[in-house]
Amino acid sequence: VPEPGVLADHQTRIYVEGAAGRLPALPLDHDELERRAEARLDRGAFGYVAGGAGAEDTMRANRDAFRRWRIVPRMLRDVSHRDLRTEVCGTAMPAPVLLAPVGVQSIVHPEAELAVARGAAAVGVPMVLSSASSRSMEEVAAALDGCPRWFQLYWPGDPELTASLLARAERAGYGAVVVTLDVWMLGWRPRDLQLAYLPFLRGEGMANYLSDPVFRAALDAPPEEDMAGAVRHFLRVFSDPSTTWDRLARLRQSTRLPILLKGILHPDDARRAADHGVDGIIVSNHGGRQVDGAVAALDALPAVVDAVPQSLPVLFDSGIRTAADAFTALALGARAVLLGRPYVWALAVGGEAGVAELLRNLLAELDLTVALTGHTRLEEIGREALTRAG
Ligand SMILES: Cc1cc2nc3c(=O)[nH]c(=O)nc-3n(C[C@H](O)[C@H](O)[C@H](O)COP(=O)(O)O)c2cc1C
Repeated sequence: VPEPGVLADHQTRIYVEGAAGRLPALPLDHDELERRAEARLDRGAFGYVAGGAGAEDTMRANRDAFRRWRIVPRMLRDVSHRDLRTEVCGTAMPAPVLLAPVGVQSIVHPEAELAVARGAAAVGVPMVLSSASSRSMEEVAAALDGCPRWFQLYWPGDPELTASLLARAERAGYGAVVVTLDVWMLGWRPRDLQLAYLPFLRGEGMANYLSDPVFRAALDAPPEEDMAGAVRHFLRVFSDPSTTWDRLARLRQSTRLPILLKGILHPDDARRAADHGVDGIIVSNHGGRQVDGAVAALDALPAVVDAVPQSLPVLFDSGIRTAADAFTALALGARAVLLGRPYVWALAVGGEAGVAELLRNLLAELDLTVALTGHTRLEEIGREALTRAG
């Protein structure tokens, strides 16, 4: 992790550059960034990233939930020196922010996950690589250089394939496994259905599988000769909806990496996860892409935090757009937050440089928010920093 320096200095650099006639390349407002991405992407790709399940009620609720909290800044505390660095599951990071796993980035940018990896590495923000990436985990690891990374697993029914993917992740220097629990099947996504758009059917987002010896050995013909057969096999093996808690013990034995469970929303599931000895939990509803009508992720966070021992890190995603959002989730007990759609829009608009710029903006804004609310370290930020909006 590069020395973060003073994260807020990025703000000064923007003004100084502007004085020399160079304005920021990337829109600073999220919705404007999304609109700029929309103008660049084809309809299918834009809808795939922007869309959610059903009437997209949960997707909206994820963002609305933040509006029901307000931060209460405190005054006259020495905030001249801040340190936002933290460590989660053995991974050090410049601030409590990671890139959420997002599959098939080739639909957004030709360099896909490699561009994101280079952008993340420029800032030192850890990347969680999706199982369903367009580039293999080994290629992405090389692009990340020394930047920390975790591997997200769509948990296959086949223990051999699972073990093979996890062994590769270990060898390629991934520091933890994020097991996603909310996609045993795809949610009902009207935007994608309307265009009958599913990138996997065209063989996109399968790089980790097509390069896997166990996956390949199960095919009648190599994917280079029969992509349709490989796609059929992928759709069969990528997850197993009959999976229950008892399979966690076996998963635990397949890797020495820390295991985090992603998609937990109920405190009883959180307790169960803790009882099964996992190393972390990610409160998430997959950005509202799976169950329309599901609880907003932020509304689920406090009860999950309260349900598990303090030593068990609870992370958060689904709706983080600004530093205020990140601060609110941290104040409600998240140890770190994962950024999703915003970095995909930055990738679409600005490639590698766009991702780096977005992250520098977010980290600078977070540093300023921490300072201006009277804090200097993450440990000081708790629920007393918030009040319910009137
Ligand atoms: C286009 C897209 C693809 C995604 N792919 C994955 C994936 O492969 N694995 C996974 O665990 N989550 C995936 N997610 C969910 C994200 O990790 C994260 O939970 C979600 O984006 C958070 O919502 P937000 O982006 O609205 O903040 C995906 C999300 C989007 C938008």
